Amino acid sequence: MDPLKWLAKRQGQGNLRRLRPLVRPLAGDLHLAGNSRPLIDFSSNDYLALSCHAQVIATARQFLEEHGAGSGAARLMSGDLALHHRLEKEIARFKGQEAALLFGNGYMANTGVIPALMGRHDVIFSDKLNHASIVDGSLLSGARLVRFRHNDMDHLADLLARKRGSGQALIVVESLYSMDGDKAPLAELVALKERHNCLLLVDEAHATGIFGATGAGVVEEAGVADQVDLVMGTFGKALGSYGAYVAARQGWIDFLVNRARSFIYSTALPPAVIGASLGALQVVRGNPGLGQQLLARVEFFKKALASYNLEVESSTQIMPLMIGASGAAVEMAAQLGEAGFFVTAVRPPTVPENTARLRFSVTLHQGEGDLSSLAEQVAALV
Ligand SMILES: Cc1ncc(COP(=O)(O)O)c(C=O)c1O
Repeated sequence: MDPLKWLAKRQGQGNLRRLRPLVRPLAGDLHLAGNSRPLIDFSSNDYLALSCHAQVIATARQFLEEHGAGSGAARLMSGDLALHHRLEKEIARFKGQEAALLFGNGYMANTGVIPALMGRHDVIFSDKLNHASIVDGSLLSGARLVRFRHNDMDHLADLLARKRGSGQALIVVESLYSMDGDKAPLAELVALKERHNCLLLVDEAHATGIFGATGAGVVEEAGVADQVDLVMGTFGKALGSYGAYVAARQGWIDFLVNRARSFIYSTALPPAVIGASLGALQVVRGNPGLGQQLLARVEFFKKALASYNLEVESSTQIMPLMIGASGAAVEMAAQLGEAGFFVTAVRPPTVPENTARLRFSVTLHQGEGDLSSLAEQVAALV
């Protein structure tokens, strides 16, 4: 492959990706490196603004100072620190599961867990909008991959009836879809998984910390924690830290310790990161209203957009404004940048062809004034 030709083609399609270094001081505004003009960030997944929370920083600092910068080895070597177990206990309790296992990040969790569960003789039923890490984990497993139309339970039921086979079967979904902001119908998925004797793996990357009575996620909100086999989630989004976990019955966790290659063959998460995650969990558990506070801002933004006849389907913190052509989405994101807003144009292959969008991510970093002025700017552009 000629990389330059490949890049030129991507550029021609409006889908070339470029890195844009940012400066994000704790005290002060976000800005592009080399340009001090402040930007309001509508692109991050730091939904609850916990990455900057004093308690989160304090526990990270304490663990760094008490335990050092790195964990030194993989968990199954000498990297298995008591503080990893402490966080696993806490996250399992939060998620209403028996046990949990930490992974380096969410990508590693999905690419480790799915191949551990499924093999060549098995079949995976996967929502068409599932994250790349789920797709990659499924491909890595060697299992047959059957994709159903997004959130279409009739389509899934039909595929299960025809393609379930006699091996192991896994249904895998996101509880809150990362680029569309809609939720999976978990009660229906549980009914289907029981009817067809499948495992159900739910990725709560974007839901953890926000939905449900204690903020545990959409699994909690739907009341299906006991019926979902494995729940995966990350610490790098609403929890403001880094890393990921899978929570499930103890037997599954013991199994993953022995089989999930991205767990076995990778250095354990460092102490400061564990401290930040524990601090964030303490903040969320101590303030169960944080998610509702965020969702109230979402409602406010939705109303502000509606006042300009702009409609965004989502009622969650992930609010995509559909544009269609990649070039137009990139141009609008650039214009919003000029107006002081950092917004990402999400384009293929991250989303299907002709569905490029501006993905507004509402977080507790923004105030109502920011939301009103973004709505006004967007209205001026469309
Ligand atoms: C649904 C979903 N799963 C998994 C991941 C991967 O998580 P991480 O960023 O921790 O690797 C992401 C992150 O983008 C995601 O959106």
